[in-house]
Amino acid sequence: MQLRSRYHRLGCALALRFLALVPWGIPRARALDNGLAMTPTMGWLHWERFMCNLDCQEEPDSCISEQLFMQMAELMVSDGWKDAGYEYLCIDDCWMAPQRDSEGRLQADLQRFPGGIHRLANYVHSKGLKLGIYADVGNKTCAGFPGSFGYYDVDAQTFADWGVDLLKFDGCYCDSIKHLADGYKYMSLALNRTGRSIVYSCEWPLYMSPLKKPNYEEIRHYCNHWRSFADISDSWQSVKSILDWTSAHQDRIVGVAGPGGWNDPDMLVIGNFGLSWDQQVTQMALWAIMAAPLLMSNDLRNISPQAKALLQDKDVIAINQDPLGKQGYQLRKVSNFEVWERPLLDLAWAVAVINQQESGGPRSYTISIASLGRGVACNPACHITQLLPVKRELGFYEWTSMLKIRINPTGTVLLRIEDRSQTSKSLL
Ligand code: GLA
Repeated sequence: MQLRSRYHRLGCALALRFLALVPWGIPRARALDNGLAMTPTMGWLHWERFMCNLDCQEEPDSCISEQLFMQMAELMVSDGWKDAGYEYLCIDDCWMAPQRDSEGRLQADLQRFPGGIHRLANYVHSKGLKLGIYADVGNKTCAGFPGSFGYYDVDAQTFADWGVDLLKFDGCYCDSIKHLADGYKYMSLALNRTGRSIVYSCEWPLYMSPLKKPNYEEIRHYCNHWRSFADISDSWQSVKSILDWTSAHQDRIVGVAGPGGWNDPDMLVIGNFGLSWDQQVTQMALWAIMAAPLLMSNDLRNISPQAKALLQDKDVIAINQDPLGKQGYQLRKVSNFEVWERPLLDLAWAVAVINQQESGGPRSYTISIASLGRGVACNPACHITQLLPVKRELGFYEWTSMLKIRINPTGTVLLRIEDRSQTSKSLL
């Protein structure tokens, strides 16, 4: 990111009103660089698994309440999630009371969050984690709670005062494309002005694209990550549609991603109900290739050891978090195999091959090593490790060799290619 661009004059009356009141209020000023999300954000977000469950009488363990987040915070620490890198515990929609307080500030529903968000943030911080929250650029959140339109500065300051570390800013109920764009920009600058480090997660291109082509360069100047595609659900069809959208638009979106600003294909649904084991492997592998934020939406109190091991796989997370920060892309699609690759630090590459054929059994695919990594991944030779579905050293390969792999239907084989010849040369 980010936030480096010159401020464009906001057109909406609301913003002008604030600018009149606040003389240092930014026209032409350079916004601060928030220095966050230098690698994709990792954490947990309640939406896909817990949605807008308000019924704490009937379902005390799965309603949106401080108890849910406190339990998740404890497990994130005790069960190795924090050590694996999952740091942000994020609240989505439905945390608010239906009305603002007498001073116009957002407030949590006090039945479900008796200690309020400030106390929850303190608790989350005491565990060494960070807290994310949710609001909306328009008049209401998608679930109908108070929106931030008209209150951007107040809400940014409230979140900072509470000790919030990430804001997911949704785009429902915005009455014009201009308000949408101006609101997303204004909130970015308002968060910066609070002086608190707050990761800014946007859905600006998702809401903009039916009306106007998003300008991703501009979006990157204001947001740490941004959603472009519909909400994920717990199904293979949903995961597949996200991959299809991403490859179809890769010429526009891949180059824009990098340290500080990432394309967000939405939450990891690994550990829930809808994906087979192979499909969970595919989601993890491809979210690593896409340099996607890794925000799990699952129940950490009840997750299989296999899903946990996949989500905590250090080698796969290392690809996702690679410091070079380059997003991968689909290299080719042939007879229902998709080959994706991603350049990594120190001339390494990650390669994922998906078997998209949904009938039959495992199928073999033969890769010409010379075709990988723009012809240089393995020149003149390299070492290849299979990371998923299970870790296996495949050994040394020459540029001219072929590699045969076998992949289950809707599954993925994820490889890491290291140019050991470069390493040995530099040691000489
Ligand atoms: C939108 C967002 C989702 C979630 C819901 C909450 O649909 O895209 O990720 O935040 O709103 O209402």
